[in-house]
Amino acid sequence: MQIQVNNTLMNVKVLFSESDIRERIKQLSEQINLDYGTENTLVILIVLHGALIFASDLVRNLAMPTEIETVRIKSYEGTTSSGNINLVTPLPKDLVGKHVLVIEDIVDTGRSINFLLNELKKSNTKSIKVCSLLDKPEAHEYPLKADYIGFQIAKNFVIGYGLDLDGKYRNLPYVADLIKA
Ligand code: HPA
Ligand code: MG
Repeated sequence: MQIQVNNTLMNVKVLFSESDIRERIKQLSEQINLDYGTENTLVILIVLHGALIFASDLVRNLAMPTEIETVRIKSYEGTTSSGNINLVTPLPKDLVGKHVLVIEDIVDTGRSINFLLNELKKSNTKSIKVCSLLDKPEAHEYPLKADYIGFQIAKNFVIGYGLDLDGKYRNLPYVADLIKA
């Protein structure tokens, strides 16, 4: 498939296929089930919109009782490279004493997850961990590592399986690189 991005034709090259993703989600969920056990309730905090599709597949493989919550973060690019980040929706109210697993689509610079974790620290949770479908180690600007990572990737921009380009292509069933045609 080819798509037009700012007047440049790009090839959409599959990086992780549907079955690659399905297989990796099975492995991740087995690890999460082992780590948390089946007794305690786990709050799944989905970071919208990117992690929606990943989370919906992941939670169906989890063995413990879960509560599903969402949060939306927006980063406003200012004139400085750091920009500004805000919560668009408030954090779930009653997280006190609960185990929380944050589900992200990607840890890129790490800025948004770093911001969210700082906000979550005010909630007196019992524990907070992060599960991200993708991780771009070379792009990190914050010393933070997700507890569960689907795939590590290079610095290239990727789309699909929840990840967007200007709001589009989240519905692709695979993760793809965009490469100049
Ligand atoms: N693709 C889509 N959205 C993103 C990416 C990416 O590579 N990095 C951060 N947000
Ligand atoms: Mg995006």
